[in-house]
Amino acid sequence: MTVPIAIIGAGIAGLSAAQALQKAGHTVHLFDKGHGSGGRMASKRSEAGALDLGAQYFTARDRRFVEQVQAWQAKGWAAEWKPQLYNYREGQLTPSPDEQFRWVGVPRMSAITRGLLKDVTVNFNCRIAEVFRGKQYWHLQDTEGGSHGPFSRVIIAVPAPQATQLLSATTKLAGMAASVQMEPTWAIALGFDTPLDTPMQGCFVQGCDLDWLARNRSKPGRDEKLDTWVLHATASWSKQHIDLSREAVIEHLLGNFAELVGCAVPAPTFTLAHRWLYARPSSSHEWGALADADLGLYACGDWCMSGRVEGAWLSGQEAARRLLEHLE
Ligand code: FAD
Ligand code: NAI
Repeated sequence: MTVPIAIIGAGIAGLSAAQALQKAGHTVHLFDKGHGSGGRMASKRSEAGALDLGAQYFTARDRRFVEQVQAWQAKGWAAEWKPQLYNYREGQLTPSPDEQFRWVGVPRMSAITRGLLKDVTVNFNCRIAEVFRGKQYWHLQDTEGGSHGPFSRVIIAVPAPQATQLLSATTKLAGMAASVQMEPTWAIALGFDTPLDTPMQGCFVQGCDLDWLARNRSKPGRDEKLDTWVLHATASWSKQHIDLSREAVIEHLLGNFAELVGCAVPAPTFTLAHRWLYARPSSSHEWGALADADLGLYACGDWCMSGRVEGAWLSGQEAARRLLEHLE
């Protein structure tokens, strides 16, 4: 019997590692506390359609990721999004076109991680509380008291604050994860019956409590009936208002939006708020992935590199590479 490799976290980092290990002939078993894959690249199903509340788009700068994105595009999982971009600064809204390629999952962001799940064994709704080593192999304990294993190696692909506890078998790696601060983001979605009278489809915001806004419906493959918008608050406002009620968050950010968007904003017919507690690392690292190869314990995620989809994917590849290297 081959003893599988466990991966905790079915976000893009965990799935990237899973794909690389499977390609090398290994059996992997994933665990995620969510009821679906994607983590911060997930899309929220709602009565207004599937909304990308986390990652909005991604760019590809590393050659390996460029090739991967092209492969996703060929499979129909990803497409280029060419929004009419604006910039809001010092109270001025100005068009801000550029030449950057920006990619999204189609018909929703989660299509990519969903595609990567094919042929992978995964336990959803399973929050791992402890990772421990028996005589020879690793075992996982979930929060419901269930035990999983044996596993030959474990890759932890969750945000740094959640990884710290799971890495307690190695104080060095646990200490590195504990040193990473992650900042929150309040996200809201608004839906309007009548399309807002603006050509804007995306906007980088400075100088108010919003950081970014996007017309979700302008992304390729979306078919929402309402004119849907996703708004992100700045990290500092989100931190200061972390325990505000969803209603109050919506009211405040809607007010900011109405002030800057430059057209009449009627009452939305649909609203939703989501709090990302660990949205982004407060600084970038160049760790690639963390590894204790002798123990067989690894960690990866956006926090090991740039806090972006590309960084998370590359980190998953690096964790797999280091694991495979040790087997040679
Ligand atoms: P995650 O996606 O967080 O995956 C970790 C997974 O682990 C999750 O599915 C979680 O449920 C699971 N998990 C956690 N703890 C446990 C446990 N104990 N047991 C089991 N499972 C567990 N990036 C861009 O490139 N462009 C953008 O425009 C962009 N915008 C963003 C906007 C927001 C609001 C947010 C929140 C993020 C944004 N990002 C963006 C960042 C991007 O989404 C992340 O960098 C990337 O998705 C991180 O992937 P990951 O696999 O490292 O982590
Ligand atoms: P990118 O190259 O499009 O954007 C990087 C940054 O450059 C933007 O944040 C913006 O400040 C600036 N910029 C880019 N194009 C611009 C334009 N046309 N006009 C004005 N400013 C422009 O994408 P990249 O590097 O892949 O970054 C991903 C995005 O994801 C960033 O905007 C980042 O802030 C966002 N992000 C948000 C998180 C959150 O929790 N809200 C978490 C992680 C990433």
